[in-house]
Amino acid sequence: MASKKKKLFKIIILGDSGVGKTSLMNQYVNARFTQQYRATVGADFMAKEVMIDDRMVTLQIWDTAGQERCQSLGGAFYRGADCCVLVYDITNPKSFDSLDSWRDEFLMQGQPKDPEHFPFVVLGNKLDKATERKVQESKAQQWCKSHGNIQFFEVSAKDATNIEQAFQDIAKAAASQE
Ligand code: GTP
Ligand code: MG
Repeated sequence: MASKKKKLFKIIILGDSGVGKTSLMNQYVNARFTQQYRATVGADFMAKEVMIDDRMVTLQIWDTAGQERCQSLGGAFYRGADCCVLVYDITNPKSFDSLDSWRDEFLMQGQPKDPEHFPFVVLGNKLDKATERKVQESKAQQWCKSHGNIQFFEVSAKDATNIEQAFQDIAKAAASQE
């Protein structure tokens, strides 16, 4: 008998310009990293198949532009998301301070059915630059805890540290919404 369970999950990545949203997606999906910065315009997605709990599902990962706050994309874009990934750069405190407004933006525009329990995941990127760190891990953990126990990883899109683990958790969080 064919399973009625959902097979496609929509993941949305949000965060300030330059934090590494495109790089994270590119590292996870294509195992590639480029040093050169090209700002994302609008939004685009990549798909990847993953196993969660013995079944194959497709993650549709949406990468957005940090610059425009996606205002042009609007609610229709956020609606139907199964997980929202909030990204900051551990060397850039301002990008960490923006997490609140990105979260608010998603909840306001996307209007998930159960906002209290909607799965967010926070990624502190550029861990390879830990010597230039400006955001303490404990501070980010605190923020995640006080916003409904959000899952948190420090990662590097450059050297791929924790990328597989983080996206495995993102996939599980998305599937938990069924
Ligand atoms: P917008 O598209 O403008 O919103 O930016 P973005 O969040 O997609 O950032 P992007 O992935 O384009 O990365 C910005 C810059 O940071 C690029 O020069 C990347 O090479 C660099 N970068 C991204 N991730 C890492 C990382 O983990 N470590 C280091 N050292 N650099 C990174
Ligand atoms: Mg980008």
